[in-house]
Amino acid sequence: MAQRTIVGIDVGTTKVCTIVGQVHDNGRINVLGVGLTPSKGLDKGVVVNIDDAVNAIATSVEKAERLSGYRIGTAFVGVSGRHISSLNSRGVVAVSRADHEITRSDVARAVENAQTIAMPNQREIIHVIPRAYVVDGHEGIRDPIGMSGFRLEVETHIVTGEVMAIQNLIKSVQRAGIEIDDLVLQTLASGEAVLTPDDKDRGVALVDIGGGTTDIAVFVEGGIWHTSVVPVGGNHFTNDIVVVLKTPHNTAEYLKLKYGMAIAEEPGDPATDLIEAEGFAPGERQQISRSLLNQVLQARAEEVIEQIYNEIRRSGYEGLLPAGVVLTGGAVQIPRFDELMRDMLGIPVRIGVPTDLAGLSDAIDTPPYATAIGLLRWGARHGMAMLPPTGGSSERTHVGSAYERFKGWLKEFLP
Ligand SMILES: Nc1ncnc2c1ncn2[C@@H]1O[C@H](COP(=O)(O)OP(=O)(O)OP(=O)(O)O)[C@@H](O)[C@H]1O
Ligand SMILES: [Mg+2]
Repeated sequence: MAQRTIVGIDVGTTKVCTIVGQVHDNGRINVLGVGLTPSKGLDKGVVVNIDDAVNAIATSVEKAERLSGYRIGTAFVGVSGRHISSLNSRGVVAVSRADHEITRSDVARAVENAQTIAMPNQREIIHVIPRAYVVDGHEGIRDPIGMSGFRLEVETHIVTGEVMAIQNLIKSVQRAGIEIDDLVLQTLASGEAVLTPDDKDRGVALVDIGGGTTDIAVFVEGGIWHTSVVPVGGNHFTNDIVVVLKTPHNTAEYLKLKYGMAIAEEPGDPATDLIEAEGFAPGERQQISRSLLNQVLQARAEEVIEQIYNEIRRSGYEGLLPAGVVLTGGAVQIPRFDELMRDMLGIPVRIGVPTDLAGLSDAIDTPPYATAIGLLRWGARHGMAMLPPTGGSSERTHVGSAYERFKGWLKEFLP
């Protein structure tokens, strides 16, 4: 069976995770190596210190190389941050052949036409994803090539980001010695890892809650309609503990991971409610109320869920999600978070984990690794179409010119 070795690097706010894997035609991934290291130099999904980010990326890559015995040259890299925004755009063309049969070139022209959007010059396009086609007014066509018609329209979802934020990420990866096959919006990668085609057909919101950002993507009728990034994540839960319970940051993170719950229970016997934890001074111990801890976490969880819901509502598709919400990312592992969300929103909520893994897959079939695994699936599905030839310059800070990338998108998404 055909297989390809692909590398994904998830440069997250709390961790950098590099995965080397063989992706088989049937979608199964044989994981050859994983390199995990705490992230540095990132804030809410964007690089704020290049040297620190380079070190973290290089460490993660080296670990994955050692484990896999594979020399990593290029990788698919996730991108996130509040600078990301998205819009839906239609492109229209007249079908060019005399017999009115629609060809790839008509589709390509329609997609190109959809990209003529007014964009401030400090932004650039990250993805142009054709969702569906309209032929002479007939909507919802997934593959128009070979059909007959006069007028071809394409509906696309366009994701853009700030040039500087994107370039700082590209620079950091390149300085760590890695060429970029493609930049992929983190939620689109996570979606590849945890959503089924059926979820996307029925209508689903994918919500990846990491350390610094919550990334949302809404799929309806198999296509992507809305993507956005909200700057909240697991770090906010930890910081709330620091502020309210007056603990050091490490202690707060420890308490969250060990005792945290998104639904606070009634304080029972005070003797069992109190837990001992490290204080600020070396050796100092302090008593923390477990129920108070969980009240703090529940308050934050409710706020995060409200923010997510507002974002889904802003997309205009909240009534079109029979498959509900699929949660992934490290922060959704706080016990009962999914239950709280189900109670608050009254729609199905489940936790999505990467599936269909073999090899060194221990512990990566969990929510924090959805993005990294998804990058491999994205790479296998859409290919490495975006890489322009590396020119003479020693440091290339673009992943291709707009035109080269455009050609890439066509190869990537044409039916
Ligand atoms: N069992 C758990 N309970 C509660 N929180 C958890 C648990 N495990 C991990 N987390 C939290 O998940 C967050 C990290 O998630 P993840 O690894 O998905 O982030 P990231 O990908 O580095 O960040 P981002 O995607 O925001 O850039 C941290 O805030 C961590 O405290
Ligand atoms: Mg993440």
